[in-house]
Amino acid sequence: MLATVLSSAVLGIDAYIVKVEVDVADGLPAFSTVGLPDSAIKESRDRVTAAIKNSGFYFPPSRITANLAPADIRKAGSAFDLPIAIGVMAATKQVDLSSLENTMVLGELALDGNIRSIQGGLPIAIAAKENGVQNLILPAENAKEAAIVDALKVYPVESLSEAAAFLNSAKDILPEPPTLSTTVDEKVGAESLLDLVDVKGQEHVKRAVEVSAAGGHNLIMIGPPGSGKTMIAKRIPSIMPMLSMDESLETTKIQSIVGILPSDTPLVMTRPFRSPHHTISDAGLIGGGNVPRPGEVSLSHNGVLFLDELPEFRRNVLEVMRQPLEDGHVTISRAAASLTYPANFMLVAAMNPCPCGFFSDPNRECKCTHKQIQTYVSRISGPLLDRIDIQVEVPAVKYAELSAEVTGEPSATVRERVEAARQIQHQRFDGTTIHANANMESKQIREYCPIESQAQDLLRVAINQLGLSARAYDRILKVSRTIADLDENPNIETVHVSEAIQYRSLDRSFWKN
Ligand SMILES: Nc1ncnc2c1ncn2[C@@H]1O[C@H](COP(=O)(O)OP(=O)(O)OP(=O)(O)O)[C@@H](O)[C@H]1O
Ligand SMILES: [Mg+2]
Repeated sequence: MLATVLSSAVLGIDAYIVKVEVDVADGLPAFSTVGLPDSAIKESRDRVTAAIKNSGFYFPPSRITANLAPADIRKAGSAFDLPIAIGVMAATKQVDLSSLENTMVLGELALDGNIRSIQGGLPIAIAAKENGVQNLILPAENAKEAAIVDALKVYPVESLSEAAAFLNSAKDILPEPPTLSTTVDEKVGAESLLDLVDVKGQEHVKRAVEVSAAGGHNLIMIGPPGSGKTMIAKRIPSIMPMLSMDESLETTKIQSIVGILPSDTPLVMTRPFRSPHHTISDAGLIGGGNVPRPGEVSLSHNGVLFLDELPEFRRNVLEVMRQPLEDGHVTISRAAASLTYPANFMLVAAMNPCPCGFFSDPNRECKCTHKQIQTYVSRISGPLLDRIDIQVEVPAVKYAELSAEVTGEPSATVRERVEAARQIQHQRFDGTTIHANANMESKQIREYCPIESQAQDLLRVAINQLGLSARAYDRILKVSRTIADLDENPNIETVHVSEAIQYRSLDRSFWKN
């Protein structure tokens, strides 16, 4: 007999419908899975067999074939265990066939019949809704993230026998209450984050960080050891604006696919802050693997990717970041599939100006040779540097500033200004996929960044003298827009442009001498 169970698989960051067809036929006992399964799915046969028997059900000594349709896309993972088991049981009349209509089933099985969590609960629920599925049977741990999607009944199950009893109407399970309304306001608590108030002096660096956060601009900080670069970078989360609902869903989807979404946090409300170590591989940074999986650039989508000690990263690792930095997404091609993941992050980088670290320090002597300095900074290529809108020098803090009693501004105050500037941007880009000034394309730059003739003159001189690229020109305009937004000024004035130009002067002092 034949039974069909609806299920789903994730491709990139979206899920699609998979039909699990199970045929139980006369013949020598055998169990095969077809439809481009990976090894985890092939192993599924053993888990399904054991789970059915250990749950006290009948396992037919027949020829069983499980087909995963469509057969031309490679499927991965263990989430098909439960639909295959339910399929076997429906084909042997242990589960009511009619109950499977409009019902999608996913879950990994343990040998004793218990159900384990799966990856991608949120995108799967979105796909279910889009395809008119009404009921979704999921591992209990994934129920909250799936229940974000309204107009879909999500039934959490903990074991194979519970799922079977539910389908046979022998047991009632309450659908998971919609998660959205209850959790949006929680977890935003910025109180637990490190606060900018601890940073003494460095006013111009804090300003640069504020501008970065306000417009989502990439930032690099260069300075001697112990000047506070890492300290400041770690405090950036405390001034980042809250995620909008669209951004929140995008970010949650990615974390759901990678399986790092905590089961008590169905919806990510704070911006991600990722700081991978410099030994990371390019697959770790960009994404990859046999069946591709998002890397750090995607995990920091809508948030911050902090690369401390930038020159220590291997050069090819840094170079692969050029595409996502420009396009806001990353495409990974593998034999199995070619996938695109979103990767719209704000890059924050920190580095010393030379191997000993004291090249720019007026009080300490730098012991590096000219050649050493050149080799060191040239690990950051021109094209990469060109994509970093805001470049600031972080000098050693003076003793007077360190010992002074006066404290700086608390993060909460800075964050209010950042939020206000982001609010202006939300209105500006309403109805588009752009979230912040840094994401503007040339069309929007022409529309939203007109500058008056005096500022134009200033910009022309700067471009010529600093030898800046056409990309740098666009990026200066975007930063100027953000500075004007922080000023709550609808027009970009000369002061805004001149501040934005200042942030581009570092490459000249460190890279071209
Ligand atoms: N502006 C500052 N105000 C208060 N404390 C500071 C400041 N700058 C540095 N410190 C102190 O010095 C410590 C080291 O700073 P941090 O690790 O940020 O330096 P760094 O610039 O990242 O150095 P390196 O180049 O060696 O990585 C901080 O943990 C903090 O205690
Ligand atoms: Mg540091």
